[in-house]
Amino acid sequence: MIKPLRKAVLPVAGLGTRFLPATKAIAKEMMPVVDKPLIQYAIEEARAAGIEQFCMVTGRGKTALVEHFDIAFELETTLRERHKTETLALLADTQVEPGSLVTVRQQEPLGLGHAIWCARAFVGDDPFAIMLPDDLVLSETACLRQLADVYRDTGGNVVAVTEVPKEHTNRYGILKIGKDDGKLVEVLGLVEKPAPQVAPSNLSIIGRYVLLPEVIGHLARMERGAGGEVQLTDGMAKLIGEQPFHGLRYEGNRFDCGDKIGFLEAQIAFALKRSDVGPAVRAFLKNYTGM
Ligand code: UTP
Repeated sequence: MIKPLRKAVLPVAGLGTRFLPATKAIAKEMMPVVDKPLIQYAIEEARAAGIEQFCMVTGRGKTALVEHFDIAFELETTLRERHKTETLALLADTQVEPGSLVTVRQQEPLGLGHAIWCARAFVGDDPFAIMLPDDLVLSETACLRQLADVYRDTGGNVVAVTEVPKEHTNRYGILKIGKDDGKLVEVLGLVEKPAPQVAPSNLSIIGRYVLLPEVIGHLARMERGAGGEVQLTDGMAKLIGEQPFHGLRYEGNRFDCGDKIGFLEAQIAFALKRSDVGPAVRAFLKNYTGM
């Protein structure tokens, strides 16, 4: 029997060094794209995939991430008294079911694999999604929904994948590919940040996963991989051959918002999509760049 997918782990304990000084006192995941923090995009995408329980793996200086999904009593009371109904409505999506959001602490950023292992009690014996909130995907169907659909069909592990330039394979987790129907690919191997000359393909994993709970046992061995960190990719690689494992070429555009350029591109792409700010941004770009 294929267990339903109801849980998501959101690791947010990284240091965000690529975005200093912005991330000195503010969590990277609180940075807004247009008017919504990255973490809220992730929670909304998870809900669209049927996720009901959330676990944030946090570290020092990340309390705002949890507060964002709490009731802001004074703010909401004031808005109500002033009859600011429309403004109040903007807060509706920041409310989660009581008891559905838990946090665990990763005291030291020892790697993404270690962060996921920190959520082991939350995961238990259930399949679970992992979402890296700094990867933002603009798509018609929520990216995690697309993965959840594959999980429902295969009952196995599935990761979102995209082609990257061959010279950039040393930045990502890269797939060794088996059968490939152009959309769904069979994963025969996984390597974290391989040099271009030894990379088995140029198909890279982005920050969306649906995994079976057995990965936790592999991560528990705390083997250090690329960069001396406990790598999720290495833990996942151990599942290959034991369980079905696929990569999905998802529909949509992914923006790496942990990176300055990716973040700026996301601002423009998301703004252009919106009916309230899109026309003004389009006009500005035209006038400013002369294009
Ligand atoms: P990144 O590779 O983007 O690292 O982590 P980072 O520390 O957030 O940012 P940079 O590279 O220093 O700028 C990918 C994801 O894994 C989480 C991060 O919060 C991010 O969501 N992570 C990473 C952890 O939770 N713990 C870790 O030990 C490492």
